[in-house]
Amino acid sequence: MINYTEKIPNNVDLGRDRVLQRALEHWQPAYMGWWYDMGPNESHNFDVYLRTAVSVEPDGWAQFDYVKMPEYRWGIFLQPRDEKRQVNFGIHKGDPAWQEVPGEYRSTLRRVIVTQGDTEPASVEQQRMLGFSCPSMYDLRNIFQVNVEEGRHLWAMVYLLHRYFGRDGREEAEALLARRSGDADNPRILGAFNEPTPDWLAFYMFTFFTDRDGKFQLCALAESGFDPLARTCRFMLTEEAHHMFVGETGVGRIIQRTCEVMKENKVEDPSDVRALGVIDLQTIQRYLNFHYSVTLDLYGSDVSSNAANYYTSGLKGRFRETKLDDDHVLGEALYPVFEVLGDKIVARNVPALTALNERLRDDYIDEIADGVGRWQRVIDSAGIPFRLTLPHKGFHRAIGNFAGHFISPAGEVLSEGAWKKHEFEWMPSPKDHAYVQSLMTGRVVELGKFANWIAPPVRGINNKPLDFEYVRFN
Ligand SMILES: [Fe+2]
Ligand SMILES: [Fe+2]
Repeated sequence: MINYTEKIPNNVDLGRDRVLQRALEHWQPAYMGWWYDMGPNESHNFDVYLRTAVSVEPDGWAQFDYVKMPEYRWGIFLQPRDEKRQVNFGIHKGDPAWQEVPGEYRSTLRRVIVTQGDTEPASVEQQRMLGFSCPSMYDLRNIFQVNVEEGRHLWAMVYLLHRYFGRDGREEAEALLARRSGDADNPRILGAFNEPTPDWLAFYMFTFFTDRDGKFQLCALAESGFDPLARTCRFMLTEEAHHMFVGETGVGRIIQRTCEVMKENKVEDPSDVRALGVIDLQTIQRYLNFHYSVTLDLYGSDVSSNAANYYTSGLKGRFRETKLDDDHVLGEALYPVFEVLGDKIVARNVPALTALNERLRDDYIDEIADGVGRWQRVIDSAGIPFRLTLPHKGFHRAIGNFAGHFISPAGEVLSEGAWKKHEFEWMPSPKDHAYVQSLMTGRVVELGKFANWIAPPVRGINNKPLDFEYVRFN
């Protein structure tokens, strides 16, 4: 039996909700089974210095202590309710926000929640072997933190399914534990979540690019007229910020270390850089190109009637919807999308309602560009003449108007043959992967030590020193 308030910290009055208790009682052992099978490999007995959310108060979601990950207190937290909140966009604009699922939108809303929920365990599965090759105890602790929080995000979505969708919600909650990242028969729903995360450069790129897609999706759902979804997503965003921090600083530290070694040894040629045991900037650029392009696909088709329906029904808003200065109905507005016409990429104005995927993708690209600019400053301040660039948004796309076209990073429309000739200048090759993995063959876990290919962070976790024992292996 579960002692609800102790074992599952929550602010949804779980102790008094019998129906929800019964659903979770059934699901929780299956979740633990999934964690033992698919969570970080051979980590179950480690004591990890983790942050646990125990309430939504400012001091309550950041309690640090040693925890064995299977004993992590996966909680259910919603941002406190605002009694006056309304539906803020679409045809129901001005109505009180919904506290129960509107019957007519039930299946759509369930699909939205399942699609979001599916990404959470997927990323844990993708990252489960990386603990064996961590560059430091600090980084090992960080990946475990990300993993338990993705587990909690799954709980957040399962709470919504159990509480608001009855029997089919319970079935969907079980299916979330049955799909597997990369599985041929029962894969995760979205493409990027079936790609392997084979090494730590890929992990940092993933948390920078793909967790940030998570942020933008959560921001759009945090505007939802279905209030429990909006409040759940608001709280999840507090955790997402840490995941993106891990990604941005992780890549930044790799770049910093490479630049230090290049300067000390006065080398620039990638093979000379590799001979010194760090990752050449060209390879970092290729990883960037890959993770950026597969993540752009997650936003869906440029023109989408589903996206229009989600918005018009009040289920999924735009990024910072309530801060935008327009009618929040988008009856007349236009928005430019790009398409390939012959050998050119041209803009075409379409009804803004149908272009909401593209708009969210563009908001995301703005934020990505800022982050890449911060990485560039690391290179610039080392005085190294190398520019990191974001490829054209049509590069290497599998969904939307660019799918089936061969676009170079500079935005030229090429033939398949011409594109393939350059493929491994633009995308990581098997040799690149083999080289990166050759640097990461074992754990670096001596206190305060960092692998040669990455610089230490500026500071430790929760003001602890860098040589703090972030993980006890027992
Ligand atoms: Fe998440
Ligand atoms: Fe995340």
